[in-house]
Amino acid sequence: MSTWSQFFPPKPNFSEIPPQDGKVFIVTGGASGIGFELSKALYLKAGRVYIAGRSGPKARAAIKEIEDSTPDKTAAGRLEFLPLELDDLASIKASVDEFKSKETKLHVLWNNAGVSRPPVGSKSKQGIELQLATNCLGPFLFTQLLIPMMQATALTQASESDRRFGSVRVVWTSSQSVELSAPTGGITMSELHDPPADATRLYNTSKAGNIFLASELARRHGIASVSTNPGASSTNLFRHTPYVYLIGWAILHDPKMAALTQIFAGLSQDISEADLKGAYIIPWGRVSANLRDDLREAMKLPEEGGSGRASEFWGFCEETTSKFL
Ligand SMILES: NC(=O)c1ccc[n+]([C@@H]2O[C@H](COP(=O)([O-])OP(=O)(O)OC[C@H]3O[C@@H](n4cnc5c(N)ncnc54)[C@H](OP(=O)(O)O)[C@@H]3O)[C@@H](O)[C@H]2O)c1
Repeated sequence: MSTWSQFFPPKPNFSEIPPQDGKVFIVTGGASGIGFELSKALYLKAGRVYIAGRSGPKARAAIKEIEDSTPDKTAAGRLEFLPLELDDLASIKASVDEFKSKETKLHVLWNNAGVSRPPVGSKSKQGIELQLATNCLGPFLFTQLLIPMMQATALTQASESDRRFGSVRVVWTSSQSVELSAPTGGITMSELHDPPADATRLYNTSKAGNIFLASELARRHGIASVSTNPGASSTNLFRHTPYVYLIGWAILHDPKMAALTQIFAGLSQDISEADLKGAYIIPWGRVSANLRDDLREAMKLPEEGGSGRASEFWGFCEETTSKFL
């Protein structure tokens, strides 16, 4: 039932995004696909949006495309490029420093960038399996370095409504692929050190990691944090598996729809405080009521009756990235 409704979601039922004047956002991977549509929507609502990515030319082209398609800019915000190379841990602190040199606040971080099923054996600059590195370790370090700024933002919100828990938030972009085919428990910890030659399994590992990092960030740092299956969309994500465009045409939606899931996850005030501590958001903006049992169990500590796998994964990310802080 949940699987089917994620493939063919009901119409979104949340209302218009309110104006986002004064709000500062980062969208990683905002130059293309779902991130592009998300960045555009935030800009049109007066947000200050940093499109973070590894290609300056692609980001600048995206910014120009959005600006050129907005003849009346009176209600629009601002778009900027932030260099960010998620598969190079050694470069991430410089990205954060550049952001901090321009802003003192960060309201919502969408960890949206990702890579899917590159050739088996693909590795990051540090020699780590590419999907784990790009989809988890890079975003983990980027987020870690931004936590103090986000906590300070939450404390200095001007209006009472902005001081509510959840007005500062992190969104981790996962995938339905986890529920469909990740192993029991989401991640097999030994595979982090010894990755199998199976690109889909490695994608699922990284995307289960995103679900786990969402709940752990909220638990450990008290920041609202959720994960999403944004919804299957026709984007460049399938550049390494072009057959998906052929066999998946019926379920590949317009990325504008998937951007709605990301908007709901990052901005909706209808998500309860409990759900803002690690809920899984599904298309086109609903809190999942039936995430797979073993994944829910992984998000609980052993003393809460869970397996503690999410916490273990956070520990792995912390250890692997610590020398790049
Ligand atoms: N499309 C779907 O059906 C679907 C379904 C479920 C989940 N998702 C998730 O949604 C997110 C957005 O994907 P999309 O569908 O919009 O695909 P996309 O258009 O390919 O967007 C992915 C973005 O990530 C960026 N990126 C990749 N590697 C990077 C790196 N090392 N450093 C910095 N940026 C990097 C890409 O930049 P470059 O152009 O420079 O590579 C691109 O802008 C991903 O996390 C994906 O896993 C997508």
